[in-house]
Amino acid sequence: MEQKLKLLAERKAKITAGGGPKRVAAQHDKGKMTARERIEALLDPGSFAEIDAFVEHRAVDLGMDKVEAPGEGVVIGYGTVNSRLVYLFAQDFTVIGGSLGEMHAAKICKVMDMAVKVGCPCIGINDSGGARIQEGVDALAGYGDIFYRNTLASGVVPQISVIMGPCAGGAVYSPALTDFTVMVEKTGNMFITGPQVIKAVTGEDVTAEGLGGALVHSELSGCASLMFASEQETLEGIRKLLSYLPQNNVEDPPVAKTSDDPARADSGLADIIPDSPNKPYEIRDVIKRVFDDGDFFEIQPLYAKNIVIGFARLTGRTVGIVANQPRNMAGVLDINASDKASRFIRFCDAFNIPLVTLADTAGYLPGVGQEHGGVIRHGAKLLYAYSEATVPKMTVIIRKAYGGAYIAMCSRHLGADQVFAWPSAEIAVMGPDGAANIIFKKEIEEASDPVATRKEKIDEYKVNFANPYKAALRGYVDDVIDPADTRKRLISALTMLLGKRETRPAKKHGNIPV
Ligand code: HXC
Repeated sequence: MEQKLKLLAERKAKITAGGGPKRVAAQHDKGKMTARERIEALLDPGSFAEIDAFVEHRAVDLGMDKVEAPGEGVVIGYGTVNSRLVYLFAQDFTVIGGSLGEMHAAKICKVMDMAVKVGCPCIGINDSGGARIQEGVDALAGYGDIFYRNTLASGVVPQISVIMGPCAGGAVYSPALTDFTVMVEKTGNMFITGPQVIKAVTGEDVTAEGLGGALVHSELSGCASLMFASEQETLEGIRKLLSYLPQNNVEDPPVAKTSDDPARADSGLADIIPDSPNKPYEIRDVIKRVFDDGDFFEIQPLYAKNIVIGFARLTGRTVGIVANQPRNMAGVLDINASDKASRFIRFCDAFNIPLVTLADTAGYLPGVGQEHGGVIRHGAKLLYAYSEATVPKMTVIIRKAYGGAYIAMCSRHLGADQVFAWPSAEIAVMGPDGAANIIFKKEIEEASDPVATRKEKIDEYKVNFANPYKAALRGYVDDVIDPADTRKRLISALTMLLGKRETRPAKKHGNIPV
């Protein structure tokens, strides 16, 4: 037995060494941890249980019969984050560039199957040159198997992709199919075709970072949910993200401890809203004052900044926040904001996370670019996502809620369970200026002093219609509240809604406008 144990230790040591000291040093020189170091940094100390360490490739073409690939270029297993189970894989760039062949893919598929079977989040750390060229169609088959599983697992267990190196070609579609893609600045990049191919085909000169770095995907493409400056911060960010999420779609998120008073009133909230309805303010100032301990975990903070999404808590219970951002483009809804919010709403609904919507939007963004870009179908996603969602839905109309945007921001008509409005709310078909110009056109034109008459009519419209009371009269708004009481009322509504049961007509699946 002693001999056998020695042999086992030797074999394990060889596997654990990955691509060897030279390649490990090269990895460190790039500011990157190895796959195993990343796993250690992500999981609770000592909790990692590795599986499939002995798996080897069986490729023979193009000299592969002579190539040793310790661990097959990917480390897999399970462990805990804050004492809660996760399954994970980490590609090992030191072994054939973390490239994905048949058996490498089989290991990843095992992780995904197990995560679904036991009902826990699945985390994938990507650092790979993509399909292992020597393995040809077997490598492609491996990617296909992963995409298929990503899709089946969607809405069953939370899936998180971490991009800590290259993620090129079709490989990017696995992260795209998962719920969150978290990127490391400078070292993580994603693209379908790399700089060299782009140069050859279109003549464009671009670096890997400029093409598909963390900032590009956070700000421009919207493919990244979050980015962090270092690997350590990224892994800490993922630990925090997981703290808001349930283990799977039949569990509720964990309830966090908080000493924040549920009845805490905040008279300062009213002062955030400027007297002039055209003046901007920072919606995050409202969020931080209402939710537990001022804590807000924002998702996609740099993309479509006119809408703010993220997780916070009320009496320790996770809620998903969707809020217009008046500081950016007057909080208008456009193509990107609709995409961003809809996907988030669907995530929350799939994972039993109640939604809180804070509405203050000037409406849908007018423009030829928006219309030609398909704002009709993109904007429709928001209506679809809110209508489809059966989790508790609470809405606070802070200021402007005009026209289609009033409906879209989780109005009663899309199934909001509780709608509150601040006295500053303006709920109408359109803003006072536009409305007065249309309905009082004749009076204004025929008046001896058209400018004064116009102002008079606008003021009249403001008093009579740009307020929350017309909607409250119909019961579309459940209550007009003092802003100071927002936290108390939301907590009361959430507690009341904990037992909410709502079903939708039986169907195979709906057909969200994509
Ligand atoms: C086999 C690969 C590989 C790959 C890297 N390596 N990518 N081996 N298949 N796809 C190997 C290298 O030969 C090298 O081996 C080692 O990994 C490290 O790679 P380097 O090039 O030395 O590292 P670096 O300079 O850091 O460059 C990293 C890289 C580059 C930018 C990722 O390796 C690269 O461009 N690789 C190819 C990327 C690509 O086009 N992949 C296919 C995408 S198409 P040695 O032994 O020399 O150390 C795709 C289709 C999927 O993935 C379709 C799914 C539907």
